[in-house]
Amino acid sequence: MKIGFFDSGLGGLMIMKSCIDVMPEYDYIYLGDTLHVPYGGRSKEAIYAFSIAAVEELFKRDCQIVVMACNTASAIILRKLQQEWLKENYPDRRVLGVVVPTLEAASEKGHKKIGLIATAGTVESDVYRAELNKIDPDMVITSQPCPLLVPLIEYGRREWVGPILGDYLQPLITANVESLILGCTHYPLLKGEILAQLYGTGTELISQDEIIPYKLKDYLERHSDMAEKLSKKSSQQFLVTDLTPTYSATAERIFGTPLHLEKVTV
Ligand code: DGL
Repeated sequence: MKIGFFDSGLGGLMIMKSCIDVMPEYDYIYLGDTLHVPYGGRSKEAIYAFSIAAVEELFKRDCQIVVMACNTASAIILRKLQQEWLKENYPDRRVLGVVVPTLEAASEKGHKKIGLIATAGTVESDVYRAELNKIDPDMVITSQPCPLLVPLIEYGRREWVGPILGDYLQPLITANVESLILGCTHYPLLKGEILAQLYGTGTELISQDEIIPYKLKDYLERHSDMAEKLSKKSSQQFLVTDLTPTYSATAERIFGTPLHLEKVTV
């Protein structure tokens, strides 16, 4: 059986790529819901319905574990999906989110003042703050929604990012955050621009492409019942719910190699 990665769009390719780099032996399937991206401003009901359809498609394609790489979906509907739909329909499979592992990594740094940049949906859900409170109530999080960043990345308009990013990061710089969580699949692509804006502040980045591979590896080591079911043929498959030349170009830019994207209806 395989490891699935689900994202609202193409940004999650970066997280899957970094997992492949660390654990190349497994079989991977990516599903990007490009038909409905971005999820950042959508209702909980829509995100729930889209996510269930996508995860079900990955399960039908023999995934034992699905990593919900999308922060917006992880923040807004993961708990409900795990406690209701998954329990009822696929009790022996797993859907893993990215919020708690990211916060654990933030806590491991020993910093107390944490910043978060994410979609409006993720910030409004307040899930990062609520989960952080459970991990370490002494840690304080300052959150900033950045709704314009995903569309700029998806459409390849990086030249507009600098001034917009400067505006978004100012409240976090004013709050003197020690670490900044890049709480969206797409933001690791902007590491260079973000570090340039934070130059001289001493703020460290917490980037999911660097965290999730090790958290997933650790999960598989702790859950041998899951790990034993995974096949090891080093295969990779890439699915999208809508396919255009722009999506193909963006996917290759993010993944870093030529890709064959297959369009599926979920
Ligand atoms: N994948 C989403 C996330 O990580 C970003 C793109 C979107 O808004 O759908 O939050």
